[in-house]
Amino acid sequence: MLALLGLSALSFASAVPSVVQDCTKYSGPEFVCMHRYASLMPPVFQRVVVDSISNSDTFPSTQIPSDPAFQDVANATFLIWDEERAAEVLGPNVTYDFLFTVSAAGHEAPVYAPNTNELYFSQLSTGYLSQYVVNLSNDPPTLSSKMANPPIYAPAGARYRDGLIYFAATGGNSSLGNATYRPGIYTLDPKTGNSATVLNNYYGYYFNTVDDLDIDSHGRIWFTDLQFSRNIFTNTEAPQLEAATYRYDPATGHVGIVEDSAVAPNGITFSPDGHTLYLTDTGAGVPDIDPTISSPNVPVLRYNATDKRSLYAYDVTADGMHIQNKRALYSAIDFAPDGLKAAQNGYLVTATGHGVDVLDTSGTPLLRIQTNFTAVNIAFAGAKADELWIVGHGGVARVKWNLQGFLPS
Ligand SMILES: *[C@@H]1O[C@H](CO)[C@@H](O)[C@H](O)[C@H]1NC(C)=O
Ligand SMILES: *[C@@H]1O[C@H](CO)[C@@H](O)[C@H](O)[C@H]1NC(C)=O
Ligand SMILES: *[C@@H]1O[C@H](CO)[C@@H](O)[C@H](O)[C@H]1NC(C)=O
Ligand SMILES: *[C@@H]1O[C@H](CO)[C@@H](O)[C@H](O)[C@H]1NC(C)=O
Ligand SMILES: *[C@@H]1O[C@H](CO)[C@@H](O)[C@H](O)[C@H]1NC(C)=O
Ligand SMILES: *[C@@H]1O[C@H](CO)[C@@H](O)[C@H](O)[C@H]1NC(C)=O
Ligand SMILES: *[C@@H]1O[C@H](CO)[C@@H](O)[C@H](O)[C@H]1NC(C)=O
Repeated sequence: MLALLGLSALSFASAVPSVVQDCTKYSGPEFVCMHRYASLMPPVFQRVVVDSISNSDTFPSTQIPSDPAFQDVANATFLIWDEERAAEVLGPNVTYDFLFTVSAAGHEAPVYAPNTNELYFSQLSTGYLSQYVVNLSNDPPTLSSKMANPPIYAPAGARYRDGLIYFAATGGNSSLGNATYRPGIYTLDPKTGNSATVLNNYYGYYFNTVDDLDIDSHGRIWFTDLQFSRNIFTNTEAPQLEAATYRYDPATGHVGIVEDSAVAPNGITFSPDGHTLYLTDTGAGVPDIDPTISSPNVPVLRYNATDKRSLYAYDVTADGMHIQNKRALYSAIDFAPDGLKAAQNGYLVTATGHGVDVLDTSGTPLLRIQTNFTAVNIAFAGAKADELWIVGHGGVARVKWNLQGFLPS
C-alpha cells in the first residue's frame, strides 16, 4: 500500500512537464524559455519570502527539487515567457552588458539627453549633490559626474523635453553646502549645466519625496510624491502631506492632486497616445520607524511582500485633467515595480527587484531581463532610443535590442 502510494506520487510528479522548455529562436545559457508562465509546478516547490529591501527573494530562488532544468533560470539573462512576441522585442542580435559598478546606494532618474548624447542618472545618498553622466559618444561609453549650477539634490525621476531635463528631486535639507534644498521639480540644461527650480511646495507644505514625473501633450507635469526620502536620510523633514500623485501646470503654476489611493506612488508614465496613465505602487517597501533600533525615531525602509507591489493603469479623462478607472495590471515577479517607461509601441518596461520586465498593454509579461543587482529605474537612450539603460543598487547595465522608446523633441 505504501509502495503504491509512493509510486502514484512519483507518476504525478513526472506527469508535470518542466517549467523550462526549449527555445526555438534562441540558444545559449543566457536565454531560457518558460512553459506556460511556470503556472504548474511539481507538487513539491517553495519560494521562501525574504523581507529585505536590499535583497528580497527572486523568482529563480524558488526551489523545485524534481525539476533540475529550473536551475538554468538562475543563470539566464533573458527569461522568456512568450517567445513569439519576446523575439520581436529582443530582435536577433540582442546584447546585455553590465557596464559600470556603482555604490550600493540607490541609483535613479536615468534620462537620455539627445542634445549632448548623454545619459544622466543620480545617486540617492545623504548630502550627495552631483549626478552621474554617461557619454554615449564614446565606445565603450564613459562615466563621469557633474554638479548642476545650482546643484539638484537626489533626483529619482526625470524626463527630457525641448532641450531640458526635468528632474523629480527627493532631497531636503536646510543647510547643505550653505544652501537649502526641498523636494520638487527642477530643470537642467545639459549644454550649460545650469539648473532652475520649477516647483518646490504645496501651499507652503514641503513635498515629501517627489519621485518621478511624466509630461503630457499640454506640457503639464504629472508627478508622484511618496514618503521614503526621510527614511533613507536624503530628506531631513518628516512627511507633511499624504502620499499622492499630482498634476502641475507650468502655464499657471497650479498644482492639483489626481490620485491618493496608492500607498507609495512611484513610477509614472503615459501611454504613447496619452490616453492612459500608468503608475507603480511600491507600498511593499514600507517607510517605518523601527522601534527595535535602540536610538529612538530611527527611520528605516523595510520590504513587506504582502503589501502593495503592483502596476496600475488609469484612463485619462477627456479634458486631460484627471484619471479614472484604476485597474491593477501586473504584480511584480520580484520585489515591487519601481521605475516605469512606455515603449513607442505601447509595451511597458518596469524595474522589479533583480530584473526588468517587458509587459504588453494588458500587463502580460513577455520577457524578463535578469540583473545581478537590484534594478531601480530604466531609460531608453541613443539617437534611435533603441538602447535600454538599467540603473540600480550597485550596477548600471545596457541592453541593445529591437524595442524603441519615445523619442523626445
Ligand atoms: C551558472 O553559472 C555558474 C558560473 O558561470 C556556473 O558555475 C554554474 O554551473 C551555472 N549553473 C547552471 C545550472 O548552469
Ligand atoms: C544582426 O547581426 C547580423 C550579423 O552581424 C546582421 O547581418 C544583421 O543585419 C543584424 N540584424 C539586425 C536586425 O540588426
Ligand atoms: C563625449 O566624449 C567625446 C570624446 O571624448 C567628447 O568629444 C565630447 O565632448 C563628450 N561629450 C560631452 C557632452 O562632454
Ligand atoms: C544636511 O546635510 C548635511 C550634509 O549631509 C548633514 O551634515 C546635516 O546633518 C543635514 N542637516 C540636517 C538637519 O540633518
Ligand atoms: C559655506 O559658507 C562659508 C562661509 O561663507 C564658506 O567658508 C564655506 O566654504 C561654504 N561652504 C560651501 C560648501 O560652499
Ligand atoms: C505587511 O503588510 C500587510 C498588509 O498591509 C500588513 O497587514 C502586515 O502587518 C505587514 N507586516 C509587517 C511586518 O509590517
Ligand atoms: C555583476 O556582474 C558583473 C559582471 O557581469 C560584475 O562585474 C559585478 O561585480 C556583478 N555585481 C554583483 C553585485 O554581483
